[in-house]
Amino acid sequence: MADIGKDIALAKQILEQGKVVAIPTETVYGLAANALDEQAVASIFAIKERPSFDPLIVHVTSLDTIKKYSLNIPEKIQALIEHFSPGPITYLLPKKEIIPNIVTSGLDTVGLRIPAHPTTIALLEQLDFPLAAPSANPFGYISPTTPEHVNEQLGRKIDYILDGGQSTIGIESTIVGIDDNDEIVIHRLGGISIEAIEKVVGKIALNINHASNPKAPGQLLQHYAPKKPFLVGNIAELIEKNQHKKIGVLSFGNIDYKNIELNLNLSTNSDLTEAACNLFTYMRQLDQAAIDVIITDFVPNIDLGKAINDRITRAKY
Ligand code: TXA
Ligand code: MG
Repeated sequence: MADIGKDIALAKQILEQGKVVAIPTETVYGLAANALDEQAVASIFAIKERPSFDPLIVHVTSLDTIKKYSLNIPEKIQALIEHFSPGPITYLLPKKEIIPNIVTSGLDTVGLRIPAHPTTIALLEQLDFPLAAPSANPFGYISPTTPEHVNEQLGRKIDYILDGGQSTIGIESTIVGIDDNDEIVIHRLGGISIEAIEKVVGKIALNINHASNPKAPGQLLQHYAPKKPFLVGNIAELIEKNQHKKIGVLSFGNIDYKNIELNLNLSTNSDLTEAACNLFTYMRQLDQAAIDVIITDFVPNIDLGKAINDRITRAKY
């Protein structure tokens, strides 16, 4: 298993050797390596068993470092950076030559993000390169929000997990880009809601959910998936239909269910921020529990609820 610790200097040392380290962020844990080192980046893909057509996000510390790796920043993206970064949002920008093609899967844009996590910002500030980091889970499985989650699945393949506690947002960053008319397009729903983005830049377009979409090759429909059957719909009806099985429920709000083995409630007082924070941890717990099926329903489709429902849809069996 990997060591879990708070030693930023050790993480720095391992990264400088061209190896990978799991790092904390406010969204989920990342599997990080030197973004400017093709070999190091290749080992991320190998460890994650991730297809090479799925590009990585590059983590930086400031607007200045975003400028260092992108050719230009459209006005509306600049406005979003000023509003939301550091934070759970990634910008697709035309990349400079210095970013290797392996990072972007050959695309001419690079995803850049300033994470809002003091440990990882401190680490980045001591490095003279940015960090490419996908979520630190095997490809297709639920993203990790604690060091222990990372260790369970990738611990045998990496040396060190930098401990930054539980991720406070709990759901991946929102990915935004720009279209041919200089309008903002959202490529992945995440920690910053559509509503919040529209308050800054006006009406936006959505471009998600397409497995064949070349702008977001990683947005495969089957993603974030537990191994157990994950049924989505009216919870009471689904419990009724599966009465002969051992049932685990992923619930939301102040409702009680009968005749089930386990009920994990995302937020008893229907708080979507709390629900996002608990989502992946509870999906994991249900996946590991002594039950046959997981039953859940969509949450209200507003604010962070849209990102939660997106992950539920992708986890659906
Ligand atoms: O919150 C997050 O974004 C986390 C933390 C670790 O920062 N990272 C994360 O990375 O979720 P990952 O690799 O699991 O998902 C990143 C997604 C990819 O699936 C890909 O679709 C998209 O970002 N992406 C990255 N670069 C892209 C690009 N140049 N064009 C289109 N999509 C891109
Ligand atoms: Mg991921």
